[in-house]
Amino acid sequence: MDQNRIPAPVRRTYGADDLSEAPSFAGGFINFGDWHGIDLTAPTAEDRVHSQEQLYRRVLRTFPEPREQLRLAEVGCGRGLGAALALREFRFAAVTGVDIHPDQIERARAVNAKALATYPDRLAYTLGAADQLPFPDASLDGLYSVEAAQHFRELTGFAHEAARVLRPGGRLTVTTFFTADGPDAAERLSLLLASFADGLDVPHPLTAFTTDLTKAGFTDLHTESIGADVWPGLDRYLTDTVPTSHWTRNFLTAYRDGLLDYHVITAVHP
Ligand SMILES: C[S@@+](CC[C@H](N)C(=O)[O-])C[C@H]1O[C@@H](n2cnc3c(N)ncnc32)[C@H](O)[C@@H]1O
Repeated sequence: MDQNRIPAPVRRTYGADDLSEAPSFAGGFINFGDWHGIDLTAPTAEDRVHSQEQLYRRVLRTFPEPREQLRLAEVGCGRGLGAALALREFRFAAVTGVDIHPDQIERARAVNAKALATYPDRLAYTLGAADQLPFPDASLDGLYSVEAAQHFRELTGFAHEAARVLRPGGRLTVTTFFTADGPDAAERLSLLLASFADGLDVPHPLTAFTTDLTKAGFTDLHTESIGADVWPGLDRYLTDTVPTSHWTRNFLTAYRDGLLDYHVITAVHP
């Protein structure tokens, strides 16, 4: 893959400074988490890890049993802990984590060295981009992505690549935050959130993505809003970990103002 294809804000954010070490995250994961059922009185770093694992489990449960025959790939795997969890807890036949950033792939291989040694033919991490996936046509039973699609410059290419690599009947599950349809949502988000202002996050309306999926041939589209399980819990955790004025606190405001929401989207490639 041509390294020049990595957008500058993505290259910066996931380069030498390991974002997973930021106080907003914990345990090597980099997602806002599914806080459902977690006591928010005084959330700990362990709760934070649990929230991030729960988000993965929510996504992985969308792949129906029996799972032992399913060969999956994750797009935007980061440090690869979610792919290892998928293999360990859900017993898929194989999981390959894909990431656009070579530093993340290097970290994933180092952090999961033991799991890679335990499952040499079933777990792998490899460089690749959402719109140029390193898999042959119709070679996967499932494809998923956890809090990475907000970084993809556009989702049309991703939808087509997903359709290309999935076999007939293969499933796609994507979770992250999507923006509202209104004409001023993007501008208001860039005023509230530095990640939108500096171009790390791209405002993708949910309706545009579901249209992309339909045009790429996907059927059985289902979208679920899970913002209520994400933002209040995340913000409660941030209360104790970042200064009150830190811009990440504005995610809750953006959610409450209807500018964005967290979704799980599932679709089938016929
Ligand atoms: C917020 S992190 C999420 C990591 C992991 N999914 C997790 O939940 O811990 C987003 C990841 O997506 C990767 N990424 C960004 N743009 C990408 C693209 N176009 N194709 C593949 N990976 C991408 C980044 O390098 C980063 O590792």
